[in-house]
Amino acid sequence: MRIKYRKSSAFHCNAGSRCSISVVLWSILACILMIHFIPLPHQKNEESRLRLCDRLCTREFEVVEEENFRLPPPRGKRNPRAVKRRGPGKQHTVIDEFLDESSDLRPFFFPDQKLAIWPARDGNDSKYFYPGRLWMDTDGNPIQAHGGAILFDERTETYYWYGENKDGPTYHAHPKGTARVDVIGVNCYSSKDLWTWKNEGVVLPGVESNFTHDLHRSNVLERPKVIYNDKTSNYVMWMHIDDANYTKASVGVAISDSPLGPFTYLRRIRPHSCDSRDMTIFKDDDQNAYLIYSSDDNSELHVSRLTDDYLDVTREMQRILIGQHREAPAVFKHKATYYMITSGCTGWAPNRAMAHAAESIMGPWETIGNPCIGGNRVFRVTTFFSQSAFVVPLRGHSGVFIFMADRWNPSELRDSRYVWLPLTVGGVADEPLEYNFGFPVWSKVSIFWHRRWRLPVG
Ligand SMILES: *[C@@H]1O[C@H](CO)[C@@H](O)[C@H](O)[C@H]1NC(C)=O
Ligand SMILES: *[C@@H]1O[C@H](CO)[C@@H](O)[C@H](O)[C@H]1NC(C)=O
Ligand SMILES: *[C@@H]1O[C@H](CO)[C@@H](O)[C@H](O)[C@H]1NC(C)=O
Repeated sequence: MRIKYRKSSAFHCNAGSRCSISVVLWSILACILMIHFIPLPHQKNEESRLRLCDRLCTREFEVVEEENFRLPPPRGKRNPRAVKRRGPGKQHTVIDEFLDESSDLRPFFFPDQKLAIWPARDGNDSKYFYPGRLWMDTDGNPIQAHGGAILFDERTETYYWYGENKDGPTYHAHPKGTARVDVIGVNCYSSKDLWTWKNEGVVLPGVESNFTHDLHRSNVLERPKVIYNDKTSNYVMWMHIDDANYTKASVGVAISDSPLGPFTYLRRIRPHSCDSRDMTIFKDDDQNAYLIYSSDDNSELHVSRLTDDYLDVTREMQRILIGQHREAPAVFKHKATYYMITSGCTGWAPNRAMAHAAESIMGPWETIGNPCIGGNRVFRVTTFFSQSAFVVPLRGHSGVFIFMADRWNPSELRDSRYVWLPLTVGGVADEPLEYNFGFPVWSKVSIFWHRRWRLPVG
């Protein structure tokens, strides 16, 4: 979700909040444990670094790459829309430049088609990711899978990338409306190597004629996620369902017996009678799955366990990151600790990512700082000009993940780009934490900027 909302009156969420005494006790306990078991920060840091490099040959992921660009000199005539957005007296920022479709920096943020990643043209040898460049499927068409997520299907040993097909005209439904594209549907792409992607078509199409249907093209379908249910042998898709003004604020559920669809749309719910906008689904090692969604007008997140068939939420729900105004959650797990990357809420404009950590997925969650490393200051406070979508564990490489993000192009949403970067967990988190008297409890989450990079061989 990328707009600001007025408070919608009807819904009040009523799950309990944390008790401060337990927090204090927990903190004291954490302190004692720290003193006894944790070596000095720099030792731990060094040790986990070594482990990481030994095991993985991913040293090059952690090379810090600088990035430079110079703001073009002010011009007499600027794009009127960009001026309007900023107001006449305000200072011109790199983010204005990024959002300005006539900017001289445009090709830097949205490189030309000539520079596209194009496996079918370039052969299969290079396998380099170039964050921000166009990325072609095996037919030579730009991949349309925005706000996406990846399922690794054990049965077919194949990766499936699901995302929003935004290959239609960008428009504003009314003067105050946000930029949008009609619902075309959820696309699916398949791959064995995470680099060469075959278009498997629209697996959940938008609805043309039935105006009251949730998937009618005038509505909103965002951030589809698919997980496999081992008990029912079904592939279950969850997604954000809304109307053009983002007032429905619901989640939709669809089901299929194949990862390639077609998915049958079941229904839309308001989980726990709460508004739900940006969301993700996380399937744990013990087969429990969870819905994590921005709620209470995006001021907090809720975590809820799904029923065993993954088709509904249970009554179990916790409110987390209360008052922190986070969206675009992407959850992953490393060594029994849960991590989450989120963005702030600034419409289509990029903002600073935050990493969060928790021992239980139901919380308490703690915010452990901005994970972005490299590039330059502006890159780091804009998540490399992108917004989190999903985090993919790299199979066979413990502690290494791919951070998937969207570089939205609000003037032409179909041309939004993908920013994939290596994410590692290791070392000591460097931001002071809420409840631990300054002791580092969590490992550091790092997303490293690279102009080009590739996965370790094998
Ligand atoms: C690249 O690999 C894919 C399978 O991953 C194969 O279908 C395709 O033919 C290969 N292309 C080239 C140019 O080698
Ligand atoms: C249109 O969609 C609504 C809501 O999903 C459904 O109840 C209704 O039966 C549909 N109408 C037709 C003609 O398919
Ligand atoms: C969205 O809001 C606009 C202006 O407030 C209104 O004209 C329009 O009917 C609304 N659309 C929907 C689908 O609610």
